[in-house]
Amino acid sequence: MGRIPTLADLGDVSGKRVLVRTDFNVPMEGEGDARVITDDFRIRAALPTINWLTERGAQVVTCSHLGRPKGQPNPKYSMDPVRARLAELAPGVELLENLRYDAGEEGNDPAFVAKLVDGIDMYVDDAFGACHRAHASIVGPPRTLPSAMGLLLQKEVEVLLGLRNEPKHPFVAVLGGSKISDKLGVVEALLRVVDSLVVGGAMCFTFLAAQGYGIGDSLWEPDQVDTCKRLLADAAAAGKAIHLPEDLVGTDASGNFATFGRSLPPGAKGFDIGPGSAAAFTDVIMDARTVFWNGPMGMFEDPRFEAGTRTVAQAMADTKAFTVVGGGDSAAALAQFRLDDEVDHVSTGGGASLELLELGDLPGLEALRGAPNA
Ligand code: 3PG
Repeated sequence: MGRIPTLADLGDVSGKRVLVRTDFNVPMEGEGDARVITDDFRIRAALPTINWLTERGAQVVTCSHLGRPKGQPNPKYSMDPVRARLAELAPGVELLENLRYDAGEEGNDPAFVAKLVDGIDMYVDDAFGACHRAHASIVGPPRTLPSAMGLLLQKEVEVLLGLRNEPKHPFVAVLGGSKISDKLGVVEALLRVVDSLVVGGAMCFTFLAAQGYGIGDSLWEPDQVDTCKRLLADAAAAGKAIHLPEDLVGTDASGNFATFGRSLPPGAKGFDIGPGSAAAFTDVIMDARTVFWNGPMGMFEDPRFEAGTRTVAQAMADTKAFTVVGGGDSAAALAQFRLDDEVDHVSTGGGASLELLELGDLPGLEALRGAPNA
């Protein structure tokens, strides 16, 4: 694999118009003009690159997608709230309108790329969260412009490829969320490098069903039972543990809050790991030297079912291990528990961080390796 150019490889940026692809796809509440950004983490994360360029005299033009407007201008997805926040954090920095207002963005249309790079001298990709998309603004500009990865993208790649290629052992991956099918590729890739896997969230029910436990009416994927059986057998053959919850919290057949052992009775629904599991998972995390966490342990948005995720988040904060949290829901959980400053790295990418761990490369990185200055 070739080298990915860094900011220093751009040479003199003074007086140059630099297009910076950022991932400003931030969570918002409210409608239309009343939309409020609920977490500006991704905007703040792009500031080191923006400042690096402006301090050296570059004229920075940022661009991003926001939501999925499906190739049509739609005020629901306008960048206005992001533009207002960016103006506070980096005054004078331009932000184009939502890239996905044009179908050419997702279609990787050369005509849209030409429009984007018109009047632009250099390109910087700092949109880690979108680097797994072969969209126009990600893969197009490096074909013709001197290009570089920004500081955020560089850090994400270093940390996540470091986990994949040379983790300190014991290396533990803690996985949650609802579907094993969404994460199958990454689970298989992680099983090759980790010493043990900790599984919580609704995805644990498909594993528990594969082991013959009762799962009541909990969320599960019947068509993935054989996959889970194979993963359990592969892990055992490789001498690796897959830790599953030993107790669960949820609702009984009447809908009342209840705690269970590993098996749920008919009609019951599991919504969180139980306190025994949370303590056992904490022990595994405390004994590790590297921990990667992706996906909540339960429905943490509901205070009745947040304890498992909170305990795991606290263990991530307390352990001496090198700790990395994949973006998306687990990053949101850390922020909710105000523990986001207590881990070594919180990735800005959800899907992108999993894809990089699984495949070891992303379309956005490949594009930068092909840039004229690479
Ligand atoms: C994300 O939020 O994970 C990124 O911004 C990518 O968004 P997308 O899944 O709509 O491409």
